[in-house]
Amino acid sequence: MSYENLLLDIQDGVAHLTINREAKLNALNAQTLTDLADAFDHCRENESVRVLVITGAGDKAFVAGADIKELSTMTPLSAKELAYRGQQVFARVEHMGKPTIAMINGFALGGGLELALACNLRTASTKAKLGLPEVSLGIIPGYGGTQRLSRVAGPGVAREWILTGDMFSAEEAHRVGIVNRLFAPDELREGTMKMVETILSRGPVALRFAIEAISRGSNMPQREGEILECDLFGLAASTSDMKEGMAAFLEKRKPEFQGR
Ligand code: COA
Repeated sequence: MSYENLLLDIQDGVAHLTINREAKLNALNAQTLTDLADAFDHCRENESVRVLVITGAGDKAFVAGADIKELSTMTPLSAKELAYRGQQVFARVEHMGKPTIAMINGFALGGGLELALACNLRTASTKAKLGLPEVSLGIIPGYGGTQRLSRVAGPGVAREWILTGDMFSAEEAHRVGIVNRLFAPDELREGTMKMVETILSRGPVALRFAIEAISRGSNMPQREGEILECDLFGLAASTSDMKEGMAAFLEKRKPEFQGR
């Protein structure tokens, strides 16, 4: 696959997606959003992809936000349309049905943090800086940030981050639960890939069901989420992966899951 502003490399079950606009700190312009929509669909449909890892080109930024040059000419209607479009693109990664990891190698601001929040997991370099600075530009987050930050870190943290528009250290983001695992800059890739290896060793269908139970369940009253959990738990019992996982435990060996 070739894209104007992305690199997509699929190897050994892992899609490595790099946002590649280094001169503009990987800011998300319209073309990059179009590329991302296509790449997310490709990763969802391609059975050889089991895990998606997203990062930014260079060592300075993951993504420094939506492209402010493009935002500066928005009208009310085009702004609404842009937010809708960005939300649709990020929904594609949220609902991919496969584990997705944002590997935050530097600035993750505005739309960059919103993209990371749409992933299942976030790892970060200790030199990364994160934030939702939109109010300093006279706008609010528009690619899901007002909704997802509350769900990931709670409304108290979301209010602090969104109302101050401040940039926060990766350590602080880790402390409040936005970043799952923190690494020294030169250990970020290896540490993230260790996590990927662990995930790759687990049952693929079980992973899909677990993601679905957590994602859909977080938008439901708890009892309805528990009923969804019962249904998916039941469905998991229909898979050969379940037979293999349990047989492997009882026979004291490693499971060989087929994803069925
Ligand atoms: N949109 C468009 N261009 C951006 C950008 C964005 N969100 N973020 C950075 N860039 C561009 C800069 O304009 C500059 O381009 P130029 O070399 O053609 O002038 C280039 O990327 C490098 O950025 P620069 O600001 O010179 O780097 P810095 O190290 O001094 O500062 C940041 C880094 C991240 C602090 C700063 O770029 C910044 O604040 N960016 C905007 C962050 C933001 O508000 N994002 C939310 C948007 S809704």
